[in-house]
Amino acid sequence: RKKVTTRTLLKMKSEKERIAMMTAYDYPSAKIAEEAGSEILLVGDSLGMVVLGYESTIPVTLADMIHHTKAVTRGSKTAMVIADLPFMTAHLSEDEVLKAAARLMQEAGAYGIKIEGGSDMVGKISKLTKAGIPVMGHIGLTPQSVNQLGGYLIQGRDTATAKQLLEDAQKLELAGAFSLVLECVPEELSQLISETVNIPVIGIGAGRFCDGQVLVYHDLLAIGGDWHPSFVKVYQEAGKTMTEGIASFVDEVKKGIFPEEKHSAHLSADFISELYG
Ligand code: KIV
Ligand code: NA
Repeated sequence: RKKVTTRTLLKMKSEKERIAMMTAYDYPSAKIAEEAGSEILLVGDSLGMVVLGYESTIPVTLADMIHHTKAVTRGSKTAMVIADLPFMTAHLSEDEVLKAAARLMQEAGAYGIKIEGGSDMVGKISKLTKAGIPVMGHIGLTPQSVNQLGGYLIQGRDTATAKQLLEDAQKLELAGAFSLVLECVPEELSQLISETVNIPVIGIGAGRFCDGQVLVYHDLLAIGGDWHPSFVKVYQEAGKTMTEGIASFVDEVKKGIFPEEKHSAHLSADFISELYG
């Protein structure tokens, strides 16, 4: 496969080919997701929850994002790697935002960045896109504002917020965003938004009619948590398979079954007699 670029995604939208995006947080998850065909690997700040064990994405730092993005870019050759700007970074001065985005691209090798927020963010997004930084927008449920929103709730259920979301999507496109994530909105609204803007709209919990879909790695593989949002589909019980594999290892160690002769290295007979004197 050729390298996935902003043009690839635009072409996919125009040809009505759906885009598959998923999160990846380290070298093996990037390799697996790319090999499985995902066009976009998102180093989401969801890593705070699914790999670092925090309660929300709020504690995630820019240093965390750089660290994980480096591992993902080492594990990927053709997928587009997008890194999230973490909580608050996007709300610092324009200069600070530019610097943070540049670090994710120059130090960590990201193709571009994702920023949560609509109308309020378009000024900064214009600055970034004018500097040649590919920006993916993210509107609807924006988890970095979970405390302000009062929970992980569906957005855009009333006319005012629905209209606001449509307007935000159009403003993001005008600001030069190459794509946007639409999280937790009713599918009639995400359909209208996807049909209205020319940039690819990637949905999560946003129904059937977006230009692409994104899921969190650990959610779709059911690794490491016993709860996941209702919009998630579990494609493999990988966590269960992993636990079973490890339980077999533990069991065989206890019983002295592992390691076997074939897992062992040997010394020559001469060396042994020398060793035992
Ligand atoms: O951090 C993340 O995983 C995300 C996706 C759910 C869009 O932002
Ligand atoms: Na995120």
